[in-house]
Amino acid sequence: MNILLVGSGGREHALAWKIKQSPACTSLFIAPGNAGTAEVGKNVAIAIDQFEALGNFCIQEKIDLVVVGPETPLVLGIRDYFETTAALRHILLVGPGKAGAQLEGSKDFSKKFMLRHGVPTARATTFQAHESAQAIEYLATCKPPIVLKADGLAAGKGVIITQSVTEAQEAVHEMLVQKKFGEASAKVLIEDFLDGIELSVFVLTDGTHYVLLPEAKDYKRIGEGDTGPNTGGMGAVSPVVFATPEFMRKVETQVVLPTIKGLQHDNIPFKGFIFIGLMNVGEEPFVIEYNTRMGDPETEAVLTRIDSDLVELLVACAKGKLDGHRIAINPHYAVTVIMASGGYPENFEKGFAITGLSQQSEAHVFHAGTILKAGEVLTSGGRVLAITGNAPTLQAAAQKAYARAATINWKNAYYRKDISQDLARIEKEGKAV
Ligand code: AMP
Ligand code: GLY
Repeated sequence: MNILLVGSGGREHALAWKIKQSPACTSLFIAPGNAGTAEVGKNVAIAIDQFEALGNFCIQEKIDLVVVGPETPLVLGIRDYFETTAALRHILLVGPGKAGAQLEGSKDFSKKFMLRHGVPTARATTFQAHESAQAIEYLATCKPPIVLKADGLAAGKGVIITQSVTEAQEAVHEMLVQKKFGEASAKVLIEDFLDGIELSVFVLTDGTHYVLLPEAKDYKRIGEGDTGPNTGGMGAVSPVVFATPEFMRKVETQVVLPTIKGLQHDNIPFKGFIFIGLMNVGEEPFVIEYNTRMGDPETEAVLTRIDSDLVELLVACAKGKLDGHRIAINPHYAVTVIMASGGYPENFEKGFAITGLSQQSEAHVFHAGTILKAGEVLTSGGRVLAITGNAPTLQAAAQKAYARAATINWKNAYYRKDISQDLARIEKEGKAV
């Protein structure tokens, strides 16, 4: 079958790599892709939100399956566009419609969804722009740390955790009145702080049935020891030591099942990935957020642990026939280290030549922010490469990833040296949380 993958990050390179291994994949196109995806399939110069151009391309290349990587086209309604366009309706697509993507696109919507369907989550109150005075008054009654969340998509920057009421009041003013995140902060959630350790859980569902992918832990902060500003993610590890079978059973019964039942109850069809950001609070799962796509960089770790044919699963998902499908997961560890442009997540320069890419190695080198120019691979984004090592132990997997990272360079390249060390410590101490 002919497959079109939409997106251009490390997640998409990993998806392309896995899709290409399937005997069912005849041709693979990536729109717009990066220098890494160009090695696996054919890049197509169409932006992720140009639905008409993507649709025309699908007709021209007789695409059978579209896999949507990032959230933006989902929230903008790529599925709805394909389903309401006669010439595109027959094409299988992985990713929810606009209604389902609201689980990620609006934190107010997803909070109400969780409360309505009994999914454990932190208590929160939503305020609109004209209610800024009430929000400030309400904050005076809150106990720090206080979590503030912009309702809409804010490129991972919309959550602010404040350590004092005054700081929270200033931040809420910036968000609601000064529109710090534009329309995304026209509504703000004030949420209780959850004290625990985070886990990312991935579900592929057809709206009725589902398979659980391997879980992962993400490293969000730019600095070692989880310091400095939040980023899109600086590394990932899978499996996660505290995701014990007992904890994962709780996740399934208390979170995954009520989420899927809730979607059915609300008449929201959902064919795609649900990425559940969880906090493990004293061995109980609480949902921090839903995303309606795979995580990045978690995908670059998680997919290396799936032995099953991914295309088979994606097709079954898109057809609504996931029932009876199992997923084979290998028990090896995967450790992913993000190599980023110096200065990220704030200001950074792009366009530097990357050296060391062609060396043979045992680790996977997934491209994120790279571009091919005149035969040379140049940096083109904040997160540039995702290096994944796989091995039977956590230490060996990390060692493989770091050994490979040390052979790659460009001007001002930066990566965290401590990815997986916290989990190694927990493993050693035999303590869950
Ligand atoms: P989000 O954009 O919703 O993933 O939030 C970004 C990060 O903020 C999360 O990964 C958590 O580390 C943190 N966070 C969000 N909500 C809470 C909460 N209620 N309690 C503690 N930390 C939170
Ligand atoms: N790694 C977090 C995300 O993809 O949103």
